[in-house]
Amino acid sequence: KANERESLYLVNEFANTYFQKTLHKTDPGKAIGLSYFKERGFTEETIKKFNLGYSLDEWEAFTNEAIKKGYKLEYLERTGLTIVKEEKRFDRFKGRVMFPIQSMSGRVLGFGGRILTNDKKAAKYLNSPESDIYHKSKVLYGIYHAKQSIAKEDNCYLVEGYTDVIQLHQSGIKNVVSSSGTALTPEQIRLINRLTKNITVLFDGDAAGLRASLRGIDLILEQGMNVKVCTFPEGDDPDSFAKNNTLEEITLYLSEHAQDFIQFKASLLFEVSKNDPIKKAETVRDIVNSISKIPDRIKKEIYIQECARIMDISEEVLFSTLAQINKKQF
Ligand code: CTP
Ligand code: MN
Ligand code: MN
Ligand code: MN
Ligand code: MN
Repeated sequence: KANERESLYLVNEFANTYFQKTLHKTDPGKAIGLSYFKERGFTEETIKKFNLGYSLDEWEAFTNEAIKKGYKLEYLERTGLTIVKEEKRFDRFKGRVMFPIQSMSGRVLGFGGRILTNDKKAAKYLNSPESDIYHKSKVLYGIYHAKQSIAKEDNCYLVEGYTDVIQLHQSGIKNVVSSSGTALTPEQIRLINRLTKNITVLFDGDAAGLRASLRGIDLILEQGMNVKVCTFPEGDDPDSFAKNNTLEEITLYLSEHAQDFIQFKASLLFEVSKNDPIKKAETVRDIVNSISKIPDRIKKEIYIQECARIMDISEEVLFSTLAQINKKQF
């Protein structure tokens, strides 16, 4: 089994090298892939650092090359790089720019591939399927390049996407990782928890993911970590914001807009519910529920006091709500 896993790693490493070679050394790679990355503002150095690549727009160019080099079809299929259907073989990432996903120690676990057209019918990103070496709930994109800075800065920025990680990194903010579109999991948080107790979540400037992300954040509190959040102007995400601003401007924005999570959530929910008693009651339960996740009792108490102030409600009510929630949990 260990041998088989090693075979899957070797296939991924071959693919990683192949996609990079295709990007830098072939005509379509340069004309389509490389110019796409450059248009997004990525420098040659950044493109190399993150091992970005290109998969030719042909049905089985990669698969044929891998077979020719002696890699077994079985392993190509198990990593998801090749799709086998009725005896026919297809390159999963045909015609996409490639983002290899590395483990904490730098091994290639899988790939994300982005489409280059604006075809709304095709998925913008395709990712490797789950395999014996790739469990998407347990990886964080960028962790290999971020781990040192996370420990040094004693803080980790958590973003939604691949390009957010890369663009911030290029700007000089290196303590950044992405859950890559999946809902945040306890395993992912544990990876960060080994390096720092502080997470700052950087949301895209669209309402879409906000509510769902709020839930994920309770998981961070549960692990006794401190969470701040920072939102971006409507229509911006960390990538576009970093692309259009200097490091000084980005740093200033982050320091001015990063808000303690509990305070952020309390004000956000209070704003939408303050004139509606029924909604307000729901809000109170929701926020106290988040507070109940915090293991530290002193912190819990301080947050109850804060929220009483923000939501204009008595501390007693909040404490008794907390007691109710605790009773339900045991
Ligand atoms: N994602 C995915 N599949 C999709 C859409 C998104 O896996 N069909 C994941 C990707 O990891 C992506 C992240 O969710 O990076 C965030 O999605 P989104 O904000 O839509 O994409 P961006 O990262 O902003 O990508 P881009 O700037 O290239 O449009
Ligand atoms: Mn496993
Ligand atoms: Mn988004
Ligand atoms: Mn985005
Ligand atoms: Mn984006």
